[in-house]
Amino acid sequence: MTNVTLHDKQFELYISGADIRKRIGALGEKINVDYTGKKPLLIAVLNGSFMFAADLMRELTVQAEISFVKVASYHGSVSSGAVSELIGLTEHIEGRDIIVVEDIVDTGTTLVKVYDMLTERHPASVRVATLLLKPDAYNKSIPVDYAAMEIPNDFIVGYGLDYDGLGRNLRDIYKIKS
Ligand code: IMP
Ligand code: MG
Repeated sequence: MTNVTLHDKQFELYISGADIRKRIGALGEKINVDYTGKKPLLIAVLNGSFMFAADLMRELTVQAEISFVKVASYHGSVSSGAVSELIGLTEHIEGRDIIVVEDIVDTGTTLVKVYDMLTERHPASVRVATLLLKPDAYNKSIPVDYAAMEIPNDFIVGYGLDYDGLGRNLRDIYKIKS
């Protein structure tokens, strides 16, 4: 498939599933080296990261655990503004080596929320692994330690990423047609 239509938008093939797997393989090798002798806990941020998390996990030869979380945002009292909550994190993460697993880091707003909520629980370390990074959009200071691929500021779908709920099942990544 070279073109797909989701809702009202057309998308064209951008990164093949074979290329994605190669890049995840290389990223997994780096993590295996960096975490030799450690037992990292991967914390995958749903929904978008589920496919990447599964394939990355298969590349790991170090002993690793995984947990899936969701970020919920709601408005608290008038003075407190928007509040974020990490849903699903039942593990005790104090003293653990955490690897946050994201589908895509765009502006980094989501990442900062997750990062702050994790660091306040005093893990030993927190690093970030993302399938995709948009370096031209990212404007935060948290280091993105492991990015499988960097892309320009195009809107993409597939391999876990959606356009209004659709497209997550695609094996390849598609870019919006201008
Ligand atoms: P950020 O908070 O601006 O970094 O955006 C992160 C979230 O926005 C991701 O977890 C995705 O859900 C969504 N997102 C950002 N860029 C794209 C894209 O190109 N396609 C699909 N979703 C995207
Ligand atoms: Mg989304």
